[in-house]
This record gives sequence, structure tokens and C-alpha cells, in this order.
Amino acid sequence: MTSPTRPAHPRRTSRLRAFVRRWTPRRVGVRTRILLTFVVGALLLSGVLFFLTYTLTRSNLRARDGELGLSDQLITETLGSVRASLILATIITVLVGLILGIVSSERVVRPLAGAADAARAIAEGRLDTRLEPTDDPDMNALTDSFNDMVARLQDRVERDARFASDVSHELRSPLMTLAASVEVLSSRRDELTERSQAALDLLVADVARFSGLVEDLLEISRYDAGAVRINHDTLRVTELVEQSVKASSLPRTPVHVDERCQHMVLSGDRRRLARVVANLVDNARNHGGGSASVRVEPAEDSASHVRICVEDAGEGVPEADRERIFERFSRGAGASKRGAGEGAGLGLALVREHVRLHGGRVWAEPRHDGAAGARFVVELPCETLN
Ligand SMILES: Nc1ncnc2c1ncn2[C@@H]1O[C@H](COP(=O)(O)OP(=O)(O)OP(=O)(O)O)[C@@H](O)[C@H]1O
Ligand SMILES: [Mg+2]
Repeated sequence: MTSPTRPAHPRRTSRLRAFVRRWTPRRVGVRTRILLTFVVGALLLSGVLFFLTYTLTRSNLRARDGELGLSDQLITETLGSVRASLILATIITVLVGLILGIVSSERVVRPLAGAADAARAIAEGRLDTRLEPTDDPDMNALTDSFNDMVARLQDRVERDARFASDVSHELRSPLMTLAASVEVLSSRRDELTERSQAALDLLVADVARFSGLVEDLLEISRYDAGAVRINHDTLRVTELVEQSVKASSLPRTPVHVDERCQHMVLSGDRRRLARVVANLVDNARNHGGGSASVRVEPAEDSASHVRICVEDAGEGVPEADRERIFERFSRGAGASKRGAGEGAGLGLALVREHVRLHGGRVWAEPRHDGAAGARFVVELPCETLN
């Protein structure tokens, strides 16, 4: 039994489809297709009209030639002017088809371009982006389902962000009690047996790690909620870097300052920028062989940006991981090795958020001197004092 949806002449249909596919250029966009349809349609229409009008007029004149006594010259002249008028009409029809094609293709493509812009904005994190409703009922179906999809996505993302923030807040107070109790125990460490001292040391380290994780989660959820406000202090770049290094886990890390950067200042949040440098130095200690060096240099392409580069002598970051390690909870292949610390993989994600908030960027690359190791570069806008 033949299925009712099947075409009556499958072979003929598939041949037609193959013919159309063969004669349609591969990379032709919707706009060009609509334009071509209008122009070819106008050409076909005027071709048929041309043929019919011309042949009918000619046979009419020939048939009534004897009756009206028309001369051959008059017939030729009349046919000539009919042909000229028809050619003019064909040109006008094709031009009108072209104009209609341009206008229609613009009308069809404009909402698609709007949807593409909106999708791009959403991918960049602007989740409140919506498509404007139109007076076209066909387009409204797309607009409604697109807006509905984005509203659900926004709701989901906000719910997830709230969840992380609520959990971190809930964990904060018991953790503070735990930290205070551990501190009391630590102050009486000498009174404890050797086994209890070892257990206490483990507890101190874990409570510190857990507190750091909860603080990082809270900070990230503040970014997600768009609730981060920065304190704009005017900071001398060299001072900022030196102080941040001193507050890091490797306070003796050497800081080399290019002399062009001696008088550079930037406007930013001291606490957050100090966290950026300290995080990178901590990473050099945990994942980069245990030592670091910091360089402050002007950006290659502009005098209005300064680069703070943290280098180490570890194994470096494989090229495939250089982008991924900035994602949340992302830990590189080396992170599971002994001595690599027990981080959660939030440090670099926060570094990127802090740096972005200051209008800068951060990336990982190999060291420029060819030695083994990673180089993390933070580029920030700055000014030079005279
Ligand atoms: N200097 C470095 N050298 C080599 N790999 C690094 C370096 N810094 C970071 N990485 C890799 O990037 C991953 C992510 O770093 P990130 O700072 O985000 O997390 P973490 O240090 O593992 O944990 P956290 O910082 O949250 O305590 C690390 O797990 C590590 O694999
Ligand atoms: Mg880290």
C-alpha cells in the first residue's frame, strides 16, 4: 500500500529536486534566494506576456491584412513598436521585481538578524535580552518561543546562583564557630597528646581550606547576582604589586618593575586586585614548582595598559588547558598530583572576574625566555603620573 504522504511520482520528484539542487549555488543565502525568486519570476512573467502579446498581435494583423488592406511596411512598423513597448515593459517588470525582492528579503532577514544579535547578547551573559514583538503573526511565533526560552534560562541561572549563595551563607556561620573553636584548641596545642596534635593540625588546615572555598563561592555568587560594587582607589601599580606579593603565600617572591611603570597608577579595588596577584602567586607555589617571580611591564601595544606577569618554573600549562583553567571548578591535569594542593578550581575563575571588573584581561602563556614554566599575564588599564 502506498503511504499517503509519499509523492505520486517519486522518481520524477527526486529528479526535479536533484535538478533544482544542481542549479542552485551552494552558498546562496536567504536574501539572495528571495531576490532571485522575484527577478526570475518577473522575467518568466514578462517573457510569457511578451510571447503571447507579440504572437497574437502578429497573427491578428496578418489575418485582417486583406480585409483592411494594410501595407507590409505598416505591419512591420506596428510590430516593431509593439516589440519595443514589450521590451520596455519587460525591463520595468524586472526592475520592479528586483526592488520588491530587495524590500521583501530585507523584511524577512531583519528579524533573523535581530534574533542573532539577541542570541549573541545572551551568550555574553546579558540574560535580560528579549526580542521585540512584531506585527507579523508568523514572526511572533518565533519571537514568543525565543523569549520564553530565554526567560526560563534566566530563571534557571538565577536559581542556581541563588542556591550557591544560600548554601555558602548557611555554611558560613557554623564554619566561623568551627574556626573559633579550632583556634581555642590551637592555643592549648602543647597540652594535647602527639596524636591529638596531629589531628588538630589536619583540622586547622581543612577548616582554613573550607573557609576559603566558602568565601570564594560567596564572591562568585555576588558576581552572578551582579551585586559586586568596586571601591575606586587610586593605586600605584608598584606598591600594589609589592604589597600583594607580601600578603601571598610566597612573600619573598622577587618583583621586577620596568622603569616605564614606576609612575603608573590605576583606579581599582585594592582588596580584589591584591587577591588577583596573591592567587596567581599561590598557584605558582601549588602548581608551578613552588617558586615565582613577578614582573610589572607596560603592555606592548599601548602605554595606557600595564601588565602584571607572574612566572614560575613548573611544568607550565598545556596549550589545550590555557582557556579551560579559567572556568569554575576546573582543575588542570597537574592538579591531582601530590603537592599540588587541594584547591577547588575557583581561584582563576575569580581572578578573571576581578580583572574583567577592572576593564582588563588575563591569560596564561609559556614563558618568554624559553624556560619551562607558566606565565600568567594580567593586563589592566592605567595612567602615568608626570
Ligand atoms: N602556575 C600554574 N602552573 C601550572 N598549572 C596551573 C598554574 N596555575 C593554575 N594551574 C592549573 O589551573 C587549575 C585551576 O587553577 P585555580 O587556581 O583556578 O584552581 P586551584 O588552584 O586548583 O584551586 P583554588 O585556587 O580554588 O584553591 C589548577 O588546578 C592547575 O591545574
Ligand atoms: Mg588556585
